[in-house]
Amino acid sequence: MIIYDESAKSFYLEGKNFTYALRVTPDGYLTKDYFGKKIARADLGYYKPEWVKSFNPVIPGSKALFADIMQEYATAFLGDYREPALIPCDGRGVKIADLKYDSFRLSPEKKPVSSGIPTARGGETLEITLRDFDSGLKVILYYTVYPDLGIITRRAETVNGTDGEIKLERALSFTLDLYDSDFELLTLWGHHAAEKTPERIPLHHGRTTVGNVRGTTSANHAAFAALVRPETTEEQGEVYASALLYSGSHYESAEVDEAGRTRLCAGINPESFGWTLSPGESFETPEAAICYTDEGIGGMSRAFHDFFREYVIDPKWAKRRRPVVLNSWEGMHFSFDHDRLFDTIDALRGSGIELFVLDDGWFGARSNDKAGLGDWYVNEEKLPGGLRAISDRCRENGLEFGLWIEPEMVNPDSDLYRAHPDWAITVPGRTPVASRNQLVLDYSRPDVLSWIKETMYRVISEAGVSYIKWDMNRPLTENFSRFLPAGRQGEVQHRFVLGMYELARFLTESFPDILFEGCSGGGGRFDGAMLAFFPQIWTSDNTDADDRMQIQYGTGLVFPLSASSNHVSLSPNIRNGRIIGAQTRTDVAFLGTFGYEFDVRKYPADEYARIAADVEKYKKIAPLVLEGDVYRKGMRPRDNACVISVVSKDKSSAYVTFYQALNPHKTKPRFTVPGLDPDRLYRIEELDLTLPGSVLSQLGLVIPRFRGDFCTASFLLTAV
Ligand code: DGJ
Repeated sequence: MIIYDESAKSFYLEGKNFTYALRVTPDGYLTKDYFGKKIARADLGYYKPEWVKSFNPVIPGSKALFADIMQEYATAFLGDYREPALIPCDGRGVKIADLKYDSFRLSPEKKPVSSGIPTARGGETLEITLRDFDSGLKVILYYTVYPDLGIITRRAETVNGTDGEIKLERALSFTLDLYDSDFELLTLWGHHAAEKTPERIPLHHGRTTVGNVRGTTSANHAAFAALVRPETTEEQGEVYASALLYSGSHYESAEVDEAGRTRLCAGINPESFGWTLSPGESFETPEAAICYTDEGIGGMSRAFHDFFREYVIDPKWAKRRRPVVLNSWEGMHFSFDHDRLFDTIDALRGSGIELFVLDDGWFGARSNDKAGLGDWYVNEEKLPGGLRAISDRCRENGLEFGLWIEPEMVNPDSDLYRAHPDWAITVPGRTPVASRNQLVLDYSRPDVLSWIKETMYRVISEAGVSYIKWDMNRPLTENFSRFLPAGRQGEVQHRFVLGMYELARFLTESFPDILFEGCSGGGGRFDGAMLAFFPQIWTSDNTDADDRMQIQYGTGLVFPLSASSNHVSLSPNIRNGRIIGAQTRTDVAFLGTFGYEFDVRKYPADEYARIAADVEKYKKIAPLVLEGDVYRKGMRPRDNACVISVVSKDKSSAYVTFYQALNPHKTKPRFTVPGLDPDRLYRIEELDLTLPGSVLSQLGLVIPRFRGDFCTASFLLTAV
């Protein structure tokens, strides 16, 4: 609910559990009065801590200090020396935006953005216009409250209302001022095959920042940051978190000032950004989903999960069970031909697996990763009969067919690059910087974008597929486009991301029945904006079940299990050689969108034989995994054991996974079950037990000893 109180000149944005209160000060600035646990509506103008006294610049014509305002969208160089959201630069080099309140508008529905950046669906939206009355520059702040969740979204649009060019040197999505600094900062760092490792560190005076300038979300830092109280645990305590719906270079920062206040901000990374606005033009930032909860880190996860499932992921897919796939990558890499593929497909008949995915290597001169990207025609030498023949073979065996693409890339050793070297992001006169032997196509060029749209449309229409895996295997470098003038080179990265969104929108809308899975060398582009196009994303190239427990935990801090694509692969694991039994590998992969990734010739017969039953089990638990609320206890590798409960919204059923790394000999495994209704009785068939939720959550379960390390046990609980 959003309310404007004219007498107090205040806006109250009220979600399920929070109040977000803004006020126009007597000097005309928009200040944040409060954000936190829901409070009664009141005129909060009485609360004047006068934070910072000595020698601070005074607002002209007033006695108040700039530094005292809890600026809702902070600007720089007037007297608030904390981190700004916006730095505009006019033709004279003046970088001031003295943003004062101008007007507001309440709309029952969220309006779509014009730049093509994906935003969450949503209802009641508040637009507050701020204006620099001297220059004419305008900023429109957009707020959508999700009344059933502890979530509010924010974004900003800067309109050049001046009569000259304005160059934006930074335009973040939001700044968020809080009154104190009794926080720790929780972020997710990582690298390829080790995505989304939680890191929780105390704040200090000054700025603590994360982010990256790779032009893509990256495996290195997720577009996420949370302020958590030092005492906040998995189930209790306050959390203020931001998840950015953006897939390019991003930036998150928490600054503690000399008055002990904290300013959290996030948005496009200013280091690799610049944007020129002609008079009348505007720039839209990505949207940030901001969560408040006092139910701990688990409460934050559940709010974000609901948000992404209900308001971001295409409703057609969000809660639909996806087909169980076998992906060719780990089993075959590039070494396949017609016979090997046909043998694999034939072997899958009746296995329970529902869809075969042909990964990298089917096109151009692609027998390794050194050549062929960009040449999107089938390699007839490897695959006489083309993709249709493979698709037909799949259907004859009762399978659907899926295909891998990497549309944003080109190998220098490709017909495409030989014909159009200028289509890649490189600098004339300099040796191009390759990564995985490939270059990035310049999506800021309309000709490149229309070529790739046409090409991918042809590939997908001709292949007979019901699934596409869209990969992206390198970050951006050079950040130079031949298409743009010198003064606009700062726009390359963001224009690339906008071009990628345009392609993703075009393809997903052109093929509404095809399931698209995102991928970027694993989970390198696992962010809220990609979920608007791809209901599931390959979580990591690391399929080792133990490493995966950490990666899936980190991913699940923000994103729903339904979005996390997980596969059972061969043991010993191809990446780290760890030996883990089929039961554990399957139970871990069950906690998401489920599939396999192995060489059928090497997969042990006993493990192969269990697939059908495992797929049947997955079908049974899928509604819980896709729609349920997640409750966690413990996290790998910090804890030897952990528990993940996925509980139905009405708490009538739960799917509980217990994971234990090393096998202690001192006791049988025992654990408590989080998330149940304490007052209901739950039946656990596997243990022949019926117990109240309160007993299961307090005393818990004791289960038979495991033989060996890295073991799981899983249970379906049904309220009786
Ligand atoms: C990286 C992906 O994460 C893998 O799953 C696979 O698709 C390879 N790229 C193919 O090049």
